[in-house]
Amino acid sequence: MKIAVSGKGGAGKTTVAGVMARILGDRGKKVIAIDADPDSNLASAIGMDEESTKGVKPLAAMEEFIAERTGSKKGQYGAFFQLNPRVDDIPERFSLVRDGVKLLVLGNIPQGGGGCFCAENALLRSLLSYVIVERDEYVIVDLEAGLEHLGRGTAEYIDALIVVVEPGRRSFQTAHQVRRLADDIGIKKVYVVGNKIADGQDETLVRENLEGLPLLGFLSLNDRIIEADKRGVSPYDLSEKVREEVAAVLDSLEDLTG
Ligand SMILES: Nc1ncnc2c1ncn2[C@@H]1O[C@H](COP(=O)(O)OP(=O)(O)O)[C@@H](O)[C@H]1O
Ligand SMILES: [Mg+2]
Repeated sequence: MKIAVSGKGGAGKTTVAGVMARILGDRGKKVIAIDADPDSNLASAIGMDEESTKGVKPLAAMEEFIAERTGSKKGQYGAFFQLNPRVDDIPERFSLVRDGVKLLVLGNIPQGGGGCFCAENALLRSLLSYVIVERDEYVIVDLEAGLEHLGRGTAEYIDALIVVVEPGRRSFQTAHQVRRLADDIGIKKVYVVGNKIADGQDETLVRENLEGLPLLGFLSLNDRIIEADKRGVSPYDLSEKVREEVAAVLDSLEDLTG
C-alpha cells in the first residue's frame, strides 16, 4: 500500500504520517516513511530522537553522492546528467530506522518554472518513483500541500492520497486544490481525515465540506499531541487515543481500497 499525506500546513500531515508509520511498523509490516516536506520533521513524529538524527543529511544535500549517481558536476546546470540514476540501494544505505520503520529525508527539492531539470531533482524523483512503484512495502510520503514531487508515472501507483483537514475554511480550500492537482496527475483515490476535532460541531463542519471526498475518520484535538511535539517525541508514544484513532483511519482505508 502506497500512501501519500497532504493538506494545508499545520493541519496535521506529519502527525498522521508519523503515527501511521509506527502503527504499521508495530503490526509487523515493512514501512518506508518519506519526509518530502523540507519544513517538516517526520523523524520526530516517528519518535527518532535528536541524538539519532544528528548529523543526518537530507538526500538533496548530498552533493557528492548526487554527482556520483547522476554523473553531474556541481553547479553545472544544463549539462548532461543521468536522468535515471541508480537508487535501489538508497533505502538500505541512508534510512534511519525505528521500530520497523525506515525513514528517508529528502530535503529541499529544487523547484523551477516549467520543471527543473537539475540533478538533485532527477535523483529524488527516481527514488520516489522506485519506492512507490517497485518496492513491496508500505510507503508513507509526508508531502507539502503541492504534489510537485510526484510525476505522473509515479502518481498512478499511489493507492491513497490522504488529505488532512482541520475544521476551517482555508483548510478545506487547500483540500480541494490538492484534489484538483491529484486529478491532474492521475491520482484517483483521494480521502479526507478530519483532525483537531473538538466536538460534534467540528465533525459536522468537516462532513459538510467534503464535496464528495470519502472520509476516513476523525482525530480529536488532543493535548498529548501538542505535548509530544514540545518534547520532540512521537504522539504515538504519548497518546493511546491518537493510536486508536489513526488505527481506525487505517482500517477504513483498508475497507475502502479492498
Ligand atoms: N489532533 C491534534 N490535536 C492537537 N494538536 C495537534 C493535533 N494534530 C496536530 N497537532 C499540532 O499541530 C501542529 C501541526 O501539526 P503537523 O502534524 O506538524 O502539521 P503539518 O505537517 O500538516 O504541518 C503541531 O504542533 C502538532 O503537534
Ligand atoms: Mg509537516
